[in-house]
Amino acid sequence: MYYKINTYGCQMNIHESEKVAGVLEKLGFSPVAEEENADIIVYNTCCIRETAEKRALGNIGSIKHLKKKKNNLIIVVLGCLTEQPGYIEIFKQEYPHVDIVLGTRNISDLETALKDCINSKRKFHSTGQTEDFLVKDEKLPVSRDSYPNAWVNIMYGCNNFCTYCIVPYVRGREISRPMDAILDEVKRCVAEDFKEITLLGQNVNSYGQDLNDGSNFEKLLREVAKIDGKFRVRFLTSHPKDLTDGIIDAIASSEKLCKFIHLPVQAGSSKVLKDMNRKYDKERYLELVKKIKDRIPGVKITTDIMVGFPTETEEDFEETLDVVRKCRFSNAFTFIYSPRKGTPAAKMQQLPYDLKKKRIMELIKLQNSITKGISKEYEGGIYEILVEDVSPKYEGNVCGRTDCGRLVTFPGTKDMIGSFVRVKITKSKSASLFGEIVD
Ligand code: SAH
Ligand code: SF4
Ligand code: F3S
Repeated sequence: MYYKINTYGCQMNIHESEKVAGVLEKLGFSPVAEEENADIIVYNTCCIRETAEKRALGNIGSIKHLKKKKNNLIIVVLGCLTEQPGYIEIFKQEYPHVDIVLGTRNISDLETALKDCINSKRKFHSTGQTEDFLVKDEKLPVSRDSYPNAWVNIMYGCNNFCTYCIVPYVRGREISRPMDAILDEVKRCVAEDFKEITLLGQNVNSYGQDLNDGSNFEKLLREVAKIDGKFRVRFLTSHPKDLTDGIIDAIASSEKLCKFIHLPVQAGSSKVLKDMNRKYDKERYLELVKKIKDRIPGVKITTDIMVGFPTETEEDFEETLDVVRKCRFSNAFTFIYSPRKGTPAAKMQQLPYDLKKKRIMELIKLQNSITKGISKEYEGGIYEILVEDVSPKYEGNVCGRTDCGRLVTFPGTKDMIGSFVRVKITKSKSASLFGEIVD
């Protein structure tokens, strides 16, 4: 019996799909590449923007024909999309070929739901928080699929309610895992030979605030860095409002903690940032970036930026460009603001799509020139690279990342995956770097 998981959205979902795979494998299913050969098809969905939602729904709709051909096929929908108000009804009425719908805190119900479905063809719909979510989640088996990297959740949910964002509505309030549980998991991963640990949370900097036992992100980082073995530690995502000096110093002081911070700015204008409820302004963000660069030599910062927020004027957009020029981000993920039902910003007067499109093109052009300039600076340098995979593009090559997250392609073989090598950068092309191994 075979399963196929389709994952949309962020690293949180990618890792949750590994938990789903863990549950399915425990029940005796094996992974398969083609949906046609699967007995269970899972959609782990995202709804951060309308495009993400449409893509998932379109694919779920188009699988209907397979269900007709194969009566015993089980279709499961999970993830953020299912938690929006009214979506259980939508699945029941418009997607009756879907057998199981589970919310972001209901993966622990999957086993029961599947058994019910297999044994008595019963459909199962359950979303909304379960009270003992964390206790049940800790017991889920995980089938890791991203060697040499291991994802480790440190917290779930978000308390910030940025006015554009659906995440707090679909993932609930912040819940931090106890520090011991996280450290045990990291130790297990290192013992299992994982070479990179990525700590995950919507806002990792507020880790521990709900535990009331003195735990915080700085302490967690320092404890993780004390674990023996050769491995790297990354984390996602940092909210600028909670990035403390202690966290910055912890990163600066440890070999294991990557000199890399993903620090979403979202917008450059203080007015827009206020309207977004981000709780920092342009000056504070710029000061923070300066402090990070001063205290962590060689650090690289990446960001997320949105254009076309309802109150963004041409002058506000210019402020975004100004921040991008001043910060010289190593890379930036750029998005067109997409109204999400139920969020405050969706109720505001919206900007025309053409204007948003024009702004994002300008922003991308600027960032591309910066990314290219930073790539050039790597040329001639020697960097430690963790080999991640064979190159999907260049035969006979492998690819891996520098400590600060830049992708490098160089001649190598599959057996090198998971090893650290020293690579001299010989060439750069926009965001990509090329090189050769040196001893
Ligand atoms: N918790 C993380 C990000 C989660 S979503 C953080 O706070 O940084 C990832 C990115 O999607 C966000 O940083 C934002 O840039 C973008 N995003 C969120 N809501 C969006 C929306 N409604 N339209 C367009 N982009 C959005
Ligand atoms: Fe969304 Fe803001 Fe929470 Fe990030 S911090 S998940 S952008 S509400
Ligand atoms: Fe999408 Fe949910 Fe992540 S909405 S971006 S999968 S938290």
